[in-house]
Amino acid sequence: MDKLIITGGEKLSGELRISGAKNSALPILAATLLSKIPVSIGNIPHLHDITTTMELLGRMGVQLVVDEKMNVEVDASTIKNFEAPYELVRTMRASILVLGPLVAHYGTAHVSFPGGCAIGTRPVDLHLDGLIKMGAEIKIEGGYIHAKADRLKGARLVLEKITVTGTENLMMAATLAEGTTIIENAAKEPEVSDLAYFLNKMGAKISGIGTDILEIEGVDQLGTENLHFDILPDRIETGTYLVAAAMTGGQITVKNTRPNTLDAVLEKLKEAGAEITTGEDWIKLDMKDKKPHSVSVRTAPYPAFPTDMQAQFTAMNSIADGVSVITETVFENRFMHVQEMQRMGADITLESNNAICRGVNNLTAAPVMATDLRASASLVLAGLVAKGDTLVDRIYHIDRGYDHIEEKLAQLGATIRRVPN
Ligand code: EPZ
Repeated sequence: MDKLIITGGEKLSGELRISGAKNSALPILAATLLSKIPVSIGNIPHLHDITTTMELLGRMGVQLVVDEKMNVEVDASTIKNFEAPYELVRTMRASILVLGPLVAHYGTAHVSFPGGCAIGTRPVDLHLDGLIKMGAEIKIEGGYIHAKADRLKGARLVLEKITVTGTENLMMAATLAEGTTIIENAAKEPEVSDLAYFLNKMGAKISGIGTDILEIEGVDQLGTENLHFDILPDRIETGTYLVAAAMTGGQITVKNTRPNTLDAVLEKLKEAGAEITTGEDWIKLDMKDKKPHSVSVRTAPYPAFPTDMQAQFTAMNSIADGVSVITETVFENRFMHVQEMQRMGADITLESNNAICRGVNNLTAAPVMATDLRASASLVLAGLVAKGDTLVDRIYHIDRGYDHIEEKLAQLGATIRRVPN
C-alpha cells in the first residue's frame, strides 16, 4: 500500500484548481441508468471511487467512454444485468445509489447490502423504507437487497433523518414513478441539488431544489439529445486546502470552486483569523503569517458546518491558539484521527461526541495510519506543520476522495512525496 511522507514546516502559497465533487459525480453517474439515450458528463474528478463506479456500471453492460479531459460518455441502453456485486459494494458504500435508478427504470435490482465503515454503521433503512412506500418489493437475502416493482408509484415520504444518499436514491426513483412524490426533510447539500439539476436536464420534473421539500412529478422516460453536464466543484476539497493554508500561516487562491457552497466553513476560517476574499468561482485565503485561533465547530446537515470538514478543523485546532470544542452530530465514530494526532503530540480529549482541543506550539512527526477518507486528509494536514517527516500509511483512503493530493500540495510549496509499497 502506498504511503505519503510529509516534511513539515513549509508555508503554503500559490494557486490551485479544484476538481469536480466526488459526492456529486457518484449519484450523477448512477442517474445515467435512468436515461434511454447516451449522456456526456464533464469535470469528473480523477478518483478511485469514480473508477469503482465506472467499473460497476461497466459490469452491468453499460458503455462508458472516458476522454483525456475526464469527460465521460455514458450509454446505459446496452445494460444487461441489474446487479451491484459484493466485491465492489464492499469497497464503496455509495454503490447503493444504483438501487433507485435500477428499480425505477428496469423494475429490478440486486444490490449487495452495504456494510458499515470506519465512521459508523451507515444504515440504509431510510432508502429501503422510501422505496417500499413507493410500491417496491424489497427482500434481503444472501447479503443482497433484492428489489422489484412493476412501476413505482408516487408517494409522500417524510424522512426520519436527513440523509444525503437516501434523498438522492429516492429522488432518482421518483423521476420515473407514476404520479407525484413529495420528499420532506430532504437533504439540501449542494451535491443533492446538482443531481436534481442533472435529472431535470434529462427531462425530470423536480421542484423545491435546495429546500427540504422536494416535489418530483413522475414522467414516462428520461433522456435528452446531446446532453452535456459539468459536475459541481468539490466544496470539501476546497475547504481542505484552505485549512492547509490556514494551518501553515500561508496565502493561497483556489480556483474553479463555488464559494457559496461552503459559507459555514469560510465563516469559521475568518473566526480563526484568516482574511478571506471571494469571486464567483475563486476563494483567496491569507493568514498573513499568523497562527490560527482555535475555533469551536458543531457538525450538522447543510447549510450548517459539514461533517466532512470536521477532521480537518480538528487538525487545525491542534496547533491553534486557545481551546476549542469540536462536536460531531452526524456520525457516531468520526474521531479516529484523534488518536493518531495524539501520537503527534496533539492535546485532544474525547468526551462522547466532543473533542476538546488545546492548541500546542507544534506537533512532532510520527508514523500514522489513515482510517477513513477525511481523517486521512487531516493527518496529511497535521504533517504539514509537524517537526520532521510524517509518514501516513493506508493512503488508499485519500485516493478515494482527493484528486492528486500530493501534486496539489507540492504545487503550493509543501514537501510531500508518495512512497509506493
Ligand atoms: C453522504 O453519506 C456522503 N457520501 C458522506 O461523505 C457525508 O459524510 C454524508 O453524506 C453526510 O454529509 C456521499 O455522498 C457518497 P447520510 P451518506 O445518509 O449519504 C443516518 C465523504 O467523506 N442514516 O447523510 O451515507 C446515518 O447513519 C463521505 O465524502 C440512517 O440512519 O450519509 C448518519 O448518521 C463520508 N439511515 C446520518 O443518517 C439511512 O438510511 C447521515 O447519513 C441513511 C442514513
